[in-house]
Amino acid sequence: MAKEGKLKRIAAQIEKCRRCLLWKSPKAVPGTGDPDSEVMFIGEAPGFHESRQGLPFVGVAGKLLDKLLKDIGLERNEVFICNMLRHRPPGNRDPLPEEIEACRSFLDEQIQIIKPKIIVTLGRFSMNKFLPGEKISRIHGQARYVDFLGKRYIVVPMYHPAAALRNGRIMEEIKEDFQKIKVFLEENPEEEIMEKNREDKQLKLV
Ligand code: URA
Repeated sequence: MAKEGKLKRIAAQIEKCRRCLLWKSPKAVPGTGDPDSEVMFIGEAPGFHESRQGLPFVGVAGKLLDKLLKDIGLERNEVFICNMLRHRPPGNRDPLPEEIEACRSFLDEQIQIIKPKIIVTLGRFSMNKFLPGEKISRIHGQARYVDFLGKRYIVVPMYHPAAALRNGRIMEEIKEDFQKIKVFLEENPEEEIMEKNREDKQLKLV
């Protein structure tokens, strides 16, 4: 089956999912975008507007995401955008560990189908999936190699756009960090990434 068909099958499973109580929210938000994209963005969970429309990042944080993408010459339909959770937590509270676990297989399968070159995590919950124990303030905008389900990905943790809307310093940082996506897509950043992976190892040894 082609990528698009496989992604549609997962979207249908998400719509029927009852693994946690969040299914009671208005609409499931399976994710959207180009199945052949080299970049995949993973946010936290749908908010009010996302849950009404069934689409990720369509509220204010989404408008900022669109602008950040435009600034690097990308439209949202040229990348793939999804979340750790596929239904809205009430009141936009943080995802619970059991909700993340209930949704995990959907995300893992989408990653395995799309096989992006770069995974951009937006916020700490998606960062923790690939880089557990890390601090976003230390590593935002830096690329790491992460071996995940038999393939090596470039993972670039970023602040969540909603955090940028609340804090001017983070807004400046997220704009700079997005520029790096362009560089990582156009160049082979292997040396830089290996250096960062080595620094992490040393930090963990001391
Ligand atoms: N915040 C997220 O993390 N995801 C969305 O889809 C919208 C807001």
